[in-house]
Amino acid sequence: MRTVNVPLGARSYEIKIGPGLLSNLGRNCAELNLGAHCAVISDRNVAPKFAKSVQLSLKKAGFESVLITVPAGETAKSLKVMEQCYDALAKHRLERKSFIVALGGGVVGDLAGFVAASYLRGIAFVQVPTTLLAHVDSSVGGKVGVNLKAGKNLVGAFHQPRLVLCDIDTLRTLPVREFRAGLAEVIKYGIIYDAALFARLERDLPKLLKRDPETLAEVIARCCEIKADVVGQDETESGLRAILNFGHTIGHAIENISGYGKFLHGEAISIGQVAAARISTEMLGFDSNDAERIRKLFVDAGLPTQIKLSALQRKKLFAAMRLDKKVSGGEIKFVLAKKIGEVVWGQKVPEASIDKALNPSTLDPRPSSP
Ligand SMILES: NC(=O)c1ccc[n+]([C@@H]2O[C@H](COP(=O)([O-])OP(=O)(O)OC[C@H]3O[C@@H](n4cnc5c(N)ncnc54)[C@H](O)[C@@H]3O)[C@@H](O)[C@H]2O)c1
Ligand SMILES: [Zn+2]
Repeated sequence: MRTVNVPLGARSYEIKIGPGLLSNLGRNCAELNLGAHCAVISDRNVAPKFAKSVQLSLKKAGFESVLITVPAGETAKSLKVMEQCYDALAKHRLERKSFIVALGGGVVGDLAGFVAASYLRGIAFVQVPTTLLAHVDSSVGGKVGVNLKAGKNLVGAFHQPRLVLCDIDTLRTLPVREFRAGLAEVIKYGIIYDAALFARLERDLPKLLKRDPETLAEVIARCCEIKADVVGQDETESGLRAILNFGHTIGHAIENISGYGKFLHGEAISIGQVAAARISTEMLGFDSNDAERIRKLFVDAGLPTQIKLSALQRKKLFAAMRLDKKVSGGEIKFVLAKKIGEVVWGQKVPEASIDKALNPSTLDPRPSSP
């Protein structure tokens, strides 16, 4: 088992990574000075697979747990589902010392975390992520929240978990498309922070795609270290934490205009990162060979790297980018790469450059239309 510390003073916590960890959950919680009651919040895909062993482990350590199952998928991140969770917590008389276990992907983590942040003005919670994206990204750092009709993650809080338990055995049942989408965030850590990790991913991608446990555990632990390091320096995103958004300005806009289900988050930011690398070449002199290495790694991971847009979709994409949280004063801001392993944030990018990066073929000479 590997352990990564998230250094946040009195709110510091550990991320434990390895196989077979679900059965340790109760024992780990017992070390955290939590109350005797808890609620396990999970979704309809994950609960039938793992809730039993989670509840058994809690029981063996002396905790009494109730299972709250929410629908699977992004629509569960809503105020309506939050209310259902609050009602269940109240019905089972969870009190100030009680805690919540978030068992699932990023959706469950964000939802259950926000329920924990707000129920009785805040109770403790523990993250037990079950998707690759949640292992390396959403379960660490304390950003929790739900969506509004007007947009994603518009209501939320910073509420750090007391523990993150990444049991890599849970990834065995993850659908291949979801697994690949998680790899998009893994690759992101290489680009923004760690050239050696990026090179390792180029080398070990076949092992990762086979979900080799040792490779997975090492790579997940490295990603968690990077996220912990960034969050430890800038918990509430006043600066550095913005680098985690590499590829996300375009990625979020793609998710926004294409509706639920068309692109997974990891797929959208794969396209976004490839475009951001091209913009980096144009604006910061980022090595074009490295931009190509980035594109190739996403292709090899089975992720999309391009999007075909009609004129109307293009218009919508730019409108969505202008509405993104990363926009201030009307300028679209990007995280751009200086080299693999080093990025800068807050870069203003002209719309023409974004267009070119999304449509590299427009660089080729074309016959004028008849
Ligand atoms: N808080 C943060 O810092 C942060 C960071 C990144 C993303 N997010 C959020 O995370 C969400 C996406 O998370 P996600 O990609 O994990 O999606 P998800 O939680 O919807 O999970 C994807 C699908 O896989 C299923 N699933 C989960 N674990 C499984 C397993 N082990 N076996 C089989 N099926 C399983 C789920 O039921 C779901 O259908 C988005 O809402 C995004 O906004 C938050
Ligand atoms: Zn992301």
